[in-house]
Amino acid sequence: GKVCLAYSGGLDTSIILAWLLEQGYEVIAFMANIGQEEDFEAARAKALKIGASKYVLVDVRKEFIDKVLYPAIQVNAIYENVYLLGTALARPVIAKAQIQVAEQEGCFAVSHGCTGKGNDQVRFELSFYALKPDVVCITPWRDPEFFNRFAGRKDLLEYAEQKDIPVTQTKSKPWSTDENLAHISFEAGILEDPNTTPPKDMWKLTVDPTDAPATPENIEVHFTAGIPSKLVYYEAGEKKEVSDSVELFLTANKLARRNGVGRIDIVENRFIGIKSRGCYETPGLTLLRAAHIDLEGLTLDREVRALRDNFVTVNYSRVLYNGLYFTPEGEYIRSMIAPAQKTVNGVVRVALYKGSIQILGRYSSTEKLYDATESSMDELTGFSPEDATGFIKVQAIRIKKYGEKVREDNGD
Ligand code: ARG
Ligand code: SIN
Repeated sequence: GKVCLAYSGGLDTSIILAWLLEQGYEVIAFMANIGQEEDFEAARAKALKIGASKYVLVDVRKEFIDKVLYPAIQVNAIYENVYLLGTALARPVIAKAQIQVAEQEGCFAVSHGCTGKGNDQVRFELSFYALKPDVVCITPWRDPEFFNRFAGRKDLLEYAEQKDIPVTQTKSKPWSTDENLAHISFEAGILEDPNTTPPKDMWKLTVDPTDAPATPENIEVHFTAGIPSKLVYYEAGEKKEVSDSVELFLTANKLARRNGVGRIDIVENRFIGIKSRGCYETPGLTLLRAAHIDLEGLTLDREVRALRDNFVTVNYSRVLYNGLYFTPEGEYIRSMIAPAQKTVNGVVRVALYKGSIQILGRYSSTEKLYDATESSMDELTGFSPEDATGFIKVQAIRIKKYGEKVREDNGD
């Protein structure tokens, strides 16, 4: 039968491709262009040389931005207070394209090169089963036949030589990466010691903040219903604007990258229960999310915001991290993102400077929740100061009772 393999062009999935052929399968090598830096032609040649009967490349960049990244910005998605979910966000889009290819090509099975200890195996397979419940998943890194045979790097390299698989990486980097339009991740290898500071040259997408320009770069981010709708910036003194969703996201990446914005180094809790150290660069998404959060301060109702923050943001982020995008709860929580964003219209002025994002100001020409007169310390209009006396008095009813009890318990 035919198997659709998520092929990366790297050593592991090349070995898996050869191994699947050895098991008697016909293999369709599938690759998604999700904005990773990759020589797709070289990957095609390599897959075909190893013996894939076909190489199918699907460009999912626009879908990734419009369907997944912008809603993530609208909901300020974040995991464990720091991780913007760059890898997790890409998985549903890749899995969907892979299932489409598997169906088009008449494959009974799909396969991937994820390890048996990570989040990605869960994300991919739960997505596969939701999108094509009868699909078979072939998971070499969880198959004793495979993992016992390729116990170490050496075994992989030997097999590569035996099967005439070109090993392209000259000196493989001592960590593993995953890259897309939103981010790059660095994990494993020398990073497994959480106290090892990564070498300066590990970072790839962003300029080292200490080497970034010494002058702040001022830009404007416009939002319509919580979605970035225009970016205004300067290039060699000339004012530029972008509004097309893809162009806008790529420009946000460019601006954040050259100013060293979006690096983190964390220890996170994987879904399967183990802790893992990861370093991430998430330039454009970090910038757009920060601007979005600022505009919500001006334009979003207090109670809507509190409900959204405490329920939708938290739960949607967990759903994404745990690979539950295509599930009843995923569908339900996703439907709650847009309704909270109707009023999030306006402009945020931002300065990017050596890794930091500073908010310079914000305005909205349509939203009237913020009333400078009402909150002014120099104005007596809006409501009367005596009204606040009543407000505090009523709020204090139960607090006085609490205070009495505490004093009584203390014997005061
Ligand atoms: N720890 C991150 C996450 O779970 C990054 C995973 C990177 N995946 C990879 N195949 N290298 O989202
Ligand atoms: C892997 O284990 O394949 C990558 C890391 C992860 O999925 O969390």
